[in-house]
Amino acid sequence: MSLSRLVFFSRTNIKIGESAGMIRGMLQACSEYSPVSGLTGGLVFNEKFFMQVIEGSRDQVSKQLKILYEDNRHEELTVLSVSEIYRREFEGWAVGYAGRTIDAERLYMRYCPTVDINPTIMSAEALFNFIRDFCALETLYVQRAGIGETRASAPQPQAVMPQRPPQPQRPTDAPQTIKVINTKIPGTA
Ligand SMILES: Cc1cc2nc3c(=O)[nH]c(=O)nc-3n(C[C@H](O)[C@H](O)[C@H](O)COP(=O)(O)O)c2cc1C
Repeated sequence: MSLSRLVFFSRTNIKIGESAGMIRGMLQACSEYSPVSGLTGGLVFNEKFFMQVIEGSRDQVSKQLKILYEDNRHEELTVLSVSEIYRREFEGWAVGYAGRTIDAERLYMRYCPTVDINPTIMSAEALFNFIRDFCALETLYVQRAGIGETRASAPQPQAVMPQRPPQPQRPTDAPQTIKVINTKIPGTA
């Protein structure tokens, strides 16, 4: 079965300050359907944009695109690329908030000529690389789920965004394949 990768961005209709648990909620939405659809990928968002990579069979990627167009949590969905791939870069799902931490800002500088990440002026390749690298960061602002996880087993949303100093970066700049790790929220038992 042929594998496809979709890269897109859209403008968010969600006010970040009003949506406690946004990362968890999106992670649940993305990963819940994965065991059936086989879709994997990464979703990065900030106050203005959703930026996403979705990988899976052609059929499922196409179906998901239709669902996404109809989701009123965002608008102006812009497809940057749909391409045939031979292996996935994402083994499960990762959702990250693109805030102003040092490791995040390093990636903005690497892939985008503006201070904040701005997908409207990025190439498909730059946006894909950014999402992949961002989702590989070891920070509380990126949460991951395996393909088999469901709402019942996923931890509950936190009331507020975690505040913690930036975490050290991985020692290498090489592209990282997203590994499925446990999704325990720091600070819980
Ligand atoms: C930016 C954005 C990205 C999303 N990505 C996914 C995704 O990758 N997989 C998924 O199942 N749902 C995703 N969703 C949620 C879907 O649009 C939809 O709400 C979800 O599939 C549930 O559909 P249902 O309400 O028909 O069950 C995303 C929503 C938004 C706003």
